[in-house]
Amino acid sequence: MEFKFTTENQEKIKDILKKYPTKKAAVMPVLYLGQEQNGWISKEVMIEIASVLEITEEEVFGVVTFYTMFFEKPMGKNHLQVCTNVSCMLRGGYEIYQQVKEKLGIDNMEVTEDQKFSLEEVECMGSCGTAPMMAVNEDYFEDLTAEKVNEIIESLKEKN
Ligand code: FES
Repeated sequence: MEFKFTTENQEKIKDILKKYPTKKAAVMPVLYLGQEQNGWISKEVMIEIASVLEITEEEVFGVVTFYTMFFEKPMGKNHLQVCTNVSCMLRGGYEIYQQVKEKLGIDNMEVTEDQKFSLEEVECMGSCGTAPMMAVNEDYFEDLTAEKVNEIIESLKEKN
């Protein structure tokens, strides 16, 4: 299905481009915007970004495949990123990652059947002082315990 940026996002792209010396240099923030609008980076999103930035589709594809934060397939409505880097690991990050895996019945980069949840094991997200932590989409949940993780997931199940 064809992908076009919304009028609002086209305006945002104009602003983004003002901050970069070349259109090509703006590929990362424009990809973020594409992912935000579409939920993931489909082939159609890449084609549109290549056209907007006047670069090749291969150049866009190279960036998408290099950085793990760009999703190459649809993820869940609630994308859970659990940090297992050093500070979080020392404070139970792996146990939390395991707990989420078991509770949702999915593995790394998988999506639940109802499309409500997806899971990703991630490197440091800059919240080491409040480790262990995880993010649900843009929201950070810190100083996690098994009970808190349970509550977060249960409340998301009810909400959506
Ligand atoms: S190590 Fe987990 S947020 Fe830094």
